[in-house]
Amino acid sequence: MKVESVLDLIGNTPMVGIHSISPNKNVKIYLKLEGQNPVGSSKDRVALSMILDAENKGILKPGNTIVEPSSGNTGVGLALVSILKGYKLVVVCAENVTQERKDLLRSFGAKIEFSPGNLGSNGAIARAKELAEQNPDWVMLYQYGNESNPVTHVNATAPEILRDCPEIDVFVAGLGTSGTLMGCSRYFKEHNPDVKIVAVEPPAGESVSGLRSLEDGFVPEIFQADLIDRKFMIKNDESIEVTRCLLSECGLFVGVSTGAIVAGAIKQAQSMEQGTIVAISPDSGWKYLSAGIWANRIEEVIEESKSTNFW
Ligand SMILES: Cc1ncc(COP(=O)(O)O)c(C=O)c1O
Repeated sequence: MKVESVLDLIGNTPMVGIHSISPNKNVKIYLKLEGQNPVGSSKDRVALSMILDAENKGILKPGNTIVEPSSGNTGVGLALVSILKGYKLVVVCAENVTQERKDLLRSFGAKIEFSPGNLGSNGAIARAKELAEQNPDWVMLYQYGNESNPVTHVNATAPEILRDCPEIDVFVAGLGTSGTLMGCSRYFKEHNPDVKIVAVEPPAGESVSGLRSLEDGFVPEIFQADLIDRKFMIKNDESIEVTRCLLSECGLFVGVSTGAIVAGAIKQAQSMEQGTIVAISPDSGWKYLSAGIWANRIEEVIEESKSTNFW
C-alpha cells in the first residue's frame, strides 16, 4: 500500500478471529483492530471527520484554537490532524489519565487542561464547556454532540465490517460518546437489519477507561436508545481479566475497553446457538502499560529470568 498523507491511513482496519476464547464453538468472534489507525484508535476517524465537517461549514479556519474534552484518544486524533492543518489544540482531560496519554498529546504540541480526577470524563466535559464560553474565538467540536462522530462510522467503520464479514449476526461495541454504536447501528439497520446491536458499559459509579455508564447522569446528545438491542454491564476487574486473556490466549495487545467489549461478546456468545459476532477493539495496549495491567506477568518474567537457565 502507498499513500500520500498519514491521514489516508485512517480507517480500513483489519479484523482478526478470536474464536479460541468463544465459550461456544458454534459462535465465531472477530475483533476489529482500531488500534491500527495512525495514532492508535477509532477516534482518528472521528477527529478527521469532525475537523473536515467544521472546515466545510466555515466554523474552523487555519490558526484557530480547538478545545475538546477527551480521555485521550480523541485528543490525540485531533492533535494529529491539527499538526498537519495548522490548528492549536487544548485537550481537557481528567488529571488521573495515564502518563503515556499526556506525553503523546504533548508530543503532538497539544496543550492539556486538567479537570478533577474524581469527576471523570463528566468533569472534563464541564471544564471544556467553561473554557469554550470564556474564549468565544475557540472552537469546540464536541464529540458527544457532533453528528460527524456517528457519521464517520456510518460511512466507513460499518461498511468495512459488512465488506469483510458479510456473515455478521451481532455487533458489539463499548459506549463512550456512543458514536461507534450509533453510527454502525444506523448503517446495519439500513443495509442488514438482522444484525443485533449490543452495547457494553460499566455499572454506575464504576470506571472503565474510555467507557461510561449512562446512569452516571450524562447522556451524550448523539445517543439514541432505540438503536441498541441489548446491553451488558461489565466491571473494571472483568475488563482487565479479559484484556490479559486476549494477550495470553490470542497474542493481542489491546486496551482495557477492548477487554470489556470482548467480555460482553463472550456473554452474548453464551446466549446464542450459533453465528458470528464482530466486536470493536477501540485501541491497543500501549497507553495502559503504566496503569499496571500486565504488571503481574512482567514481575513473574523478571523473577523467572533471574535463574541461570531462563526457562
Ligand atoms: C478506549 C476507548 N474505548 C471505547 C470508546 C467508546 O467509543 P465511542 O465514543 O464511539 O462510544 C472510547 C471513546 O472515547 C475510547 O477512548
